[in-house]
Amino acid sequence: MPGIKGPSDYSQEPPRHPCLQINSKEPFNAEPPRSALVSSYVTPVDLFYKRNHGPIPVVDDIERYCFDITGLIQTPKNLYMRDVRMLPKYNVTAILQCAGNRRTAMSKTRKVRGVGWDVSAIGNAVWGGAKLADVLELVGIPKLTSRTQSGGKHVEFVSIDKCKEENGGPYKASIPLIQATNPEADVLLAYEMNGEPLNRDHGYPLRVIVPGVIGARSVKWLDSINIIAEECQGFFMQKDYKMFPPSVDWDNINWSTRRPQMDFPVQSVICSLEDVQSIKPGKITITGYAASGGGRGIERVDVSIDGGKTWLEASRSQKTGIPYISDHESSDKWAWVLFEITVDIPHSTEIVAKAVDSAANVQPENVQDIWNLRGILNTSWHRVQVRVGHSNM
Ligand code: MTE
Repeated sequence: MPGIKGPSDYSQEPPRHPCLQINSKEPFNAEPPRSALVSSYVTPVDLFYKRNHGPIPVVDDIERYCFDITGLIQTPKNLYMRDVRMLPKYNVTAILQCAGNRRTAMSKTRKVRGVGWDVSAIGNAVWGGAKLADVLELVGIPKLTSRTQSGGKHVEFVSIDKCKEENGGPYKASIPLIQATNPEADVLLAYEMNGEPLNRDHGYPLRVIVPGVIGARSVKWLDSINIIAEECQGFFMQKDYKMFPPSVDWDNINWSTRRPQMDFPVQSVICSLEDVQSIKPGKITITGYAASGGGRGIERVDVSIDGGKTWLEASRSQKTGIPYISDHESSDKWAWVLFEITVDIPHSTEIVAKAVDSAANVQPENVQDIWNLRGILNTSWHRVQVRVGHSNM
């Protein structure tokens, strides 16, 4: 595409925040310290996790940058940034969470394959852009369409980056057309993150944001949109980001038996303590995040200070001055909820958090029960060990 190119090496990577913990350098995959996540409701761009599968694309002429909308439609079109900016602009506060968040902990029970992530492959941002439903109207697809006249049922997003998993081809993914054309689903072609133009790491000049769905479907550096009959056949839809049972291993896997993962399950993580932490006896405030997929709110966050025998309810918040009520119009349905509770810790113990979403889904107790060979969707109860000592803390 004119105006943008996908480099084949890592010589033109952007600068990054020194506090990021680097899980892989090339491609660049990094997450902030967990304590940074609970410092603010909206995650600063430079501390937002970065998940890449190839070198970061380079825009050399933003005026010439455009993307195609083609496939099973009557009137294919080439759109420029000005065409997208002409549409009504929406600001949607939504988390992005990598399906591999908390993979390192899953790997400790039994080895999994994939980039190791602690608990910070997640962030909450305000994404600004046009609704995909409005963009698709420009090519004659009305709102709430599940099938075009020519049989299109999925919307495929193709990037410009070069990924080794795609044999040097671009990253791609798709979502169902009915979700893409539903204005309530808030799927965006975003050009802003937290009120600033997207930066290169996060998809400049244009990326997809699919709220409530694993981050893998929010394709960065958009190059084309294809309306297709079957879901995208790319690597990241067919040979990755699928949830398998604990009985499936690399010698008996059959990828075609499972659907690509879309919504993510209910999740919560304690961010104010490391996995093993020394503290003084007495009161501590425990804070963390909780989030669920599909736009479901967080009904409750339970915290235990005795390894899960008894539970206390934490307070939840999103925006300052507005009490959080799950699934209420005043809350950000695609965003996370921060939780907080002050407790007295007299002796060494295990502190645990589990969240319940508005459909009463609850996190599974043990990571072993949800182990899967790619180490995705580790949403088991989050546990930290606190060692209480009396001196030199
Ligand atoms: N889009 C492209 N083009 N290339 C990628 O490697 N990674 C995906 C998704 N979109 C990816 C992509 C994955 S797995 C995740 S979790 C999110 O982008 C991460 O987005 P972020 O780096 O902006 O946090």
